[in-house]
Amino acid sequence: MRLGKAVVRWAGIMEAMSDTFYDAVGGEPTFRRLVERFYAGVAGDPDLRPLYPEADLAPAAERLRMFLEQYWGGPHTYSDQRGHPRLRMRHAPFPVTPKARDSWLRHMRDALDGLELAAHHEAQLWGYLQTAADMMVNTPDDGDPSATRSTRPGSAPAMMPPGPAPITLVPRVVS
Ligand code: HEM
Repeated sequence: MRLGKAVVRWAGIMEAMSDTFYDAVGGEPTFRRLVERFYAGVAGDPDLRPLYPEADLAPAAERLRMFLEQYWGGPHTYSDQRGHPRLRMRHAPFPVTPKARDSWLRHMRDALDGLELAAHHEAQLWGYLQTAADMMVNTPDDGDPSATRSTRPGSAPAMMPPGPAPITLVPRVVS
């Protein structure tokens, strides 16, 4: 068997043996790279940056990384340190408009592209991020009070009803 084929086969066997998405995509280093590149984008975004209250974005990056790692089957450090995620409630102090969501997703898309994941992993992660970002919208864009809904095909139909709607923390398994 050629070396290239053997490596691909070995990777497949290892993936079948690991039971979480977190492990399958490379664990902490992968999520660290994702979040670092994402926050580098946020740092240079004049629309998005003012939303983040802290002068130093490193603690925010840490919280997002811990949350994503936990969501995808990694360590539960986020909840150990922060308690229940209740992400909609935690975003309530910040005006998350559709425009802010689109910017957030643009930086996330760029960061995701940098990871060069297998196509099925990338699709799974991207699908989740889009749905979650839609759920975080809590403020209409200026001048259009009805514009909290996403215009992307297949996205959540409208903003969530009022009140906290925590994202569930069901561990993901690799399909
Ligand atoms: C839709 C656009 C979004 C905007 C504009 C936004 C903005 C913010 C801001 C301003 C903060 C406060 C900084 C901090 O304390 O960390 C924050 C916190 C956070 N965001 Fe977002 N966010 C968005 C979407 C999301 C999504 C989709 C997720 C998860 C998939 C997420 C996960 C988090 C987490 C885990 C925290 C820290 C919560 C805590 O423990 O205090 N955000 N976000």
